[in-house]
Amino acid sequence: MRFGGLLANHDVTFDIYPGEILGLIGPNGAGKTTLFNCISGFLRPTEGTVLFKGENITGLKPHEICHRGLVRTFQITQPLRDMTVLENVMVGAFVRYPQTHQAREKAMEILRLTGLWSKRNRMGSELTIPDRKRLEIARALGAEPELLILDEAMAGLTPTEVQEAVELVKTIQAQGTTLFIIEHVMEAIMPIADRIVVLDAGRLIAEGPPSEIVQDERVIQAYLGEGRHAHRKEHSS
Ligand SMILES: Nc1ncnc2c1ncn2[C@@H]1O[C@H](COP(=O)(O)OP(=O)(O)OP(=O)(O)O)[C@@H](O)[C@H]1O
Ligand SMILES: [Mg+2]
Repeated sequence: MRFGGLLANHDVTFDIYPGEILGLIGPNGAGKTTLFNCISGFLRPTEGTVLFKGENITGLKPHEICHRGLVRTFQITQPLRDMTVLENVMVGAFVRYPQTHQAREKAMEILRLTGLWSKRNRMGSELTIPDRKRLEIARALGAEPELLILDEAMAGLTPTEVQEAVELVKTIQAQGTTLFIIEHVMEAIMPIADRIVVLDAGRLIAEGPPSEIVQDERVIQAYLGEGRHAHRKEHSS
């Protein structure tokens, strides 16, 4: 993916295997969100191909990709502020359940799973950051993803909230969903990921199990480099 003179993703080739949790890490500006945008149809890659279940989905619209079972969340959470939590999740469920009563049933099931049941009648605008992060995942689950891709779903959470999010991710995997997760919180992603891919300055610099990645010289250098330049900017989520 090229933005003018900037190669935001360059020569990035990797596989995601059914049922696994694949982590995506890399310093600020490495190109992680750009990669998610290319995969989920929010950007059309300048070159290259995205295959999902063996089919070429490059350049399809986000809703078409979502229908095929590949669903993403956003780094900056976007709850529908004037709708209740239940209605927000129903919007996701309408992708699979066009009838209102079925969409509501599906949404209620997801609200229980994600711990949002007690807040189902709150407005989207009233939610705290951890609940907005949960709602982001809940909405995505409404579309019954085969592959769920999460963009920093745990940023800004307290350690306890991170643990709850980790449990939720494990539950989602146990139900048969494949996950591809961008995460800066290393304590969260390292214990649950089956494999990790690392981006730095648009390139894939490492791929392997977490135990190998944490010892990889290029990965360590990439993160030390980040420390030298700037403090991690916090996203207003
Ligand atoms: N729509 C765009 N137009 C131009 N440049 C862009 C666009 N989107 C991203 N970029 C640039 O591409 C590079 C990669 O950005 P991206 O948001 O993918 O990084 P990231 O790894 O998700 O970073 P972070 O950890 O801060 O979320 C950055 O230099 C960014 O400024
Ligand atoms: Mg990003």
